[in-house]
Amino acid sequence: MTEGHGLSRRAFVSGAVAFLGGIIGLVLALPAIGYLLSPVLKKAGFDTEEWIPLGPVGELETGKPHLFTFSRTRRVGWETTGQSFGIYVVKKPDGGYDVFSNVCTHLSCRVTWEEDRDMFVCPCHSGFFALDGGVISGPQPRPLDQYDYVVEEGILKIHLAEV
Ligand code: FES
Repeated sequence: MTEGHGLSRRAFVSGAVAFLGGIIGLVLALPAIGYLLSPVLKKAGFDTEEWIPLGPVGELETGKPHLFTFSRTRRVGWETTGQSFGIYVVKKPDGGYDVFSNVCTHLSCRVTWEEDRDMFVCPCHSGFFALDGGVISGPQPRPLDQYDYVVEEGILKIHLAEV
């Protein structure tokens, strides 16, 4: 074999082995790369079913807020956090329901229903909301956030959207 004319057999074999080794290494690494990147590629949100059952509502007293609570896990990238929810349900005279978040629309403090004052009260900056969630007074820019709901076999379920 002559030297100096193009690629030697040894150089060709070495290059081919290195190339195939790289391909094999890449193929073997793909599952690990996919595993590591999958949390980033998934949409952020709650690890939960779409409709959250709150509980039976048939016996609720009309015109009186009733607080339901539950918690879910929220995922953003690799980070998961537990989040608790408070939901006020008010049965209306027409048989429907108002379903509110208990998170104040000002700076996210939790509001509570005060029976004697007949209003939702936010303790952080004296924000007051009416029975229908509307703003009475305070710095909050809008009414309490409402959830879409369905009632199936007496159980009220809410649609858990990113609020
Ligand atoms: S957080 Fe509720 S009034 Fe400010």
